[in-house]
Amino acid sequence: MMTQSGHVPLSGALVERLRAARRILLLTGAGVSAESGLATFRGPDGMWEGRDPMSLATPEAFAEDPETVWRFYAWRREQAARAEPNPAHRAIAALQQERSGTSLVTQNVDGLHERAGSPETVRLHGSLWRLRCTGGCGEDEDLRQDLGTLPARCACGELLRPGVVWFGESLPQAAIAAATAAAESAELVIVAGTSSVVYPAAALPELARRHGAYVVEVNPEATPLTGRVDEALPNPAGTALPALVRAAGVRFEES
Ligand code: OAD
Repeated sequence: MMTQSGHVPLSGALVERLRAARRILLLTGAGVSAESGLATFRGPDGMWEGRDPMSLATPEAFAEDPETVWRFYAWRREQAARAEPNPAHRAIAALQQERSGTSLVTQNVDGLHERAGSPETVRLHGSLWRLRCTGGCGEDEDLRQDLGTLPARCACGELLRPGVVWFGESLPQAAIAAATAAAESAELVIVAGTSSVVYPAAALPELARRHGAYVVEVNPEATPLTGRVDEALPNPAGTALPALVRAAGVRFEES
């Protein structure tokens, strides 16, 4: 049986799970911020179209040309600062606030989940707003203001770097441990706005499924995960997430 929630038809099995699940895991990617006006990475308008990730998002690129790398991140900080959370971010925050067993794991570095009111976010790929000293002084802080002359420098004189995970770097241990634990214990997993090609994040839905979770994907395009989920909703996140959250019995007003 199908239930209509807004313009999103949801199966009876999914609605039942949304109502009953005590532990829900949301795994998000760049597509969740697309309706806030932020470019995704892959696809025709993606950031990695016409830009080489290896020359912008690796420790080697930063060592070779910190100014170019910093220009890219300063531009992304500006875009993210101008963007507003959309109904997908807000619906996720509402679900987390109402249902204490809900976990949010994101690959996004834009901070929009936090700005939408998500009480806790496991950030697998770090944050655009975090700055870390590359020297030994230990500086590591959230800094939102304009960075001035690039490349950004620490008070100690050494280069600062963006607190994001670059290709070839390990994910923060605490984040991967929290994400793994959430996947292993989730009854329901909602994977939204990710191409599911970057590991280890892309392995989490499979892990959850092996531990018995019902896995739903929200993405207007097919991904390598699509054939391996229990249900795929081909709707934009800004429509699907509010529908899912309302079907879970959580009041959510789109403002
Ligand atoms: P991608 O750009 O790879 O994928 C974005 C996905 O969002 C695509 O599958 C789109 O079809 C989908 N999408 C677009 N608009 C959408 C919408 N309105 N609603 C729902 N889905 C939508 O982004 P990620 O999967 O997040 O890593 O990329 C993973 C990682 O690769 C990023 O964290 C970043 C990148 O390189 C690093 O920088 C380390």
